[in-house]
Amino acid sequence: MIRGKISRILLSESDIEAKVKELGAQITQDYKDKDLLCICLLKGSMLFLSDLIRRIDMPLQVDVMRASSYGESTVSSGSVKILQDLDADISGKHVLMIEDIVDTGRTLAKTLDLLRFRQPQSLKICALLDKPSRREVPIPIDYRGFEIENHFVVGYGLDFDEYYRNLPYVGILEL
Ligand code: IMP
Ligand code: MG
Repeated sequence: MIRGKISRILLSESDIEAKVKELGAQITQDYKDKDLLCICLLKGSMLFLSDLIRRIDMPLQVDVMRASSYGESTVSSGSVKILQDLDADISGKHVLMIEDIVDTGRTLAKTLDLLRFRQPQSLKICALLDKPSRREVPIPIDYRGFEIENHFVVGYGLDFDEYYRNLPYVGILEL
């Protein structure tokens, strides 16, 4: 059963659209003439990735990967598992990790360690949302959409217990 309610819209559809456009233009400029592989960290980044890559005006490849999620909780358990690995061989590639939100940073830190071991030519991070007040592990975010306060947010791909991903905006969830 779906739980909670949206107490406030934090980022509207048009806020998100404008930011995605801006990020896409920046990425296009930075990676022009490079062989770019965008990695979607499932499932939260699905919507962000699909909008963002349409704003990157150059040839690129996409792959997906899934790490363990919070499940029916709003706090990270701290242990991270890779549930689904990439298809692509990333050695020698310019890899851009597309993430919905960086909270404690544990999920990304673990995932980045694994990917670095495979020796991509470069490895950068693009995150739609950044909750810096919650950070436990330092994460260099190369492309950041919005910095937000310590709220649990849902929508535009982000879920609570798998619900709310289909909201076209990002809202604050009140349980
Ligand atoms: P971290 O490992 O604590 O940085 O958490 C990363 C993952 O937790 C994100 O990719 C999201 O899937 C999920 N997450 C963190 N904060 C939120 C939130 O406010 N709403 C929904 N999911 C979140
Ligand atoms: Mg995620």
